[in-house]
Amino acid sequence: MKLWTGRFHKELDKTTNDFNSSISFDSRMVKEDIQGSIAHATMLGACGVLDKAESEKICAGLEGILSDIESGALPIDMSAEDVHTFIEAELTARLGDSGKRLHTARSRNDQVALDDRLYLRGRCEELRGQLTELVRVLCHKAEEHAGDVMPGYTHLQRAQPITFGHHLMAYAEMFLRDLSRLEDAQRRMNVCPLGSGALAGTTYPLDRGLTASLLGFDGPTHNSLDGVSDRDFCMELAAAIAICMVHLSRFSEEIILWCSWEFKFVELDDAFSTGSSIMPQKKNPDIAELVRGKTGRVVGDLTTLLTMMKGLPLAYNKDMQEDKEAVFDAVDTLHMCLLAFVPMLDTMKALPENMRKAAAGGFINATDCADYLVGKGLPFRDAYKVTGALVAWCIDHHETLETLPLAEYRAHCELFGEDVYDAISLERCVNGRRVLGGPAPENVRREAARVLAILDEKEGK
Ligand code: ARG
Repeated sequence: MKLWTGRFHKELDKTTNDFNSSISFDSRMVKEDIQGSIAHATMLGACGVLDKAESEKICAGLEGILSDIESGALPIDMSAEDVHTFIEAELTARLGDSGKRLHTARSRNDQVALDDRLYLRGRCEELRGQLTELVRVLCHKAEEHAGDVMPGYTHLQRAQPITFGHHLMAYAEMFLRDLSRLEDAQRRMNVCPLGSGALAGTTYPLDRGLTASLLGFDGPTHNSLDGVSDRDFCMELAAAIAICMVHLSRFSEEIILWCSWEFKFVELDDAFSTGSSIMPQKKNPDIAELVRGKTGRVVGDLTTLLTMMKGLPLAYNKDMQEDKEAVFDAVDTLHMCLLAFVPMLDTMKALPENMRKAAAGGFINATDCADYLVGKGLPFRDAYKVTGALVAWCIDHHETLETLPLAEYRAHCELFGEDVYDAISLERCVNGRRVLGGPAPENVRREAARVLAILDEKEGK
């Protein structure tokens, strides 16, 4: 049964009904829909739009429906047009005329804008918890590996020595920003559109502040047209999630590389790896690959939302029903990815000897060799040239800067002395990078502690 009978002479065509219906994907907001209706009915009672007894009866009816849905006694009617229609029809079936009074001074347009916000607000909270956990795992791992030297790369070429802890803390920074983007998105979505009506508010004397506060919002929206047609909060959340997925994807890519025999910097726990159906030796980083792969669909979700909203005139248009599948998919995907990724990371074993070996082979101390000459008074650009020539000589003669005899150093530049070997030792190179933001072990420990303290503060610990 449709809500909007009266003007129509025929039942809606069956295929059109299926096409038009959103219950298959909006029924997940059933709890929020009922909570919103309870707040609306309570406010109508408080303002005298409904009498108190009627308002209470409606609220009790709605509570009953919610508990029946939760217990499984009341299945969702999948032939309903949407979740809002389903609840109102059920209430009316239970209460008769009182049920029909619930929708006074309300439209599905402000109702769906409300449900979206209520539902996504809860999911933001959940994602924030998962991200916080991820950053904690990163900080603890970084502390553990604060002194483990590994090659840092640019262009995927060995560049300068860093520590594994420092590398992990780079991701902690990214996910910390993601966390703050989620906080922002949640804060901005936390306003109540109920009372915007279909588009032009209502003539009833509503107390919109009361509805907003009953539902835990910071306040009501301030323009009825915007109240029903704003989906910024969906786009913003999807954007924050897409950026976070891009971070997870980059991290996944590195983990996949690190697991290869060519790197062997880490080993994933058996519980978080998979095998091959034909190659008995294989241990594959499927979780990381899937996370990398799923990033594509989330970027797609964001694109869907942006493209769907682009060019829509005010106020509500049915196109906007498409907001839900896209933003829900983004939320669900990040949620699932983090469920798998966090324990995979937590149990991932680092292999510092292999990192150390890789760091020793690629002239990653060449900058430090040049800096050594700068310390002896040579201008940096000249020191750079001398070191470049040394590296070329080493490559031609299968040497490294560590193994090169002092005589050869001195043949390139008189300023070299015995102390060069100490100056270019990897530990020295890393320990010396104490500048704020640098990879020195003491920095890594300090940064991990700083980030952990930020998380504690966020969680009110
Ligand atoms: N199912 C609709 C949606 O998700 C609810 C709003 C319907 N409003 C309307 N005027 N048809 O957007």
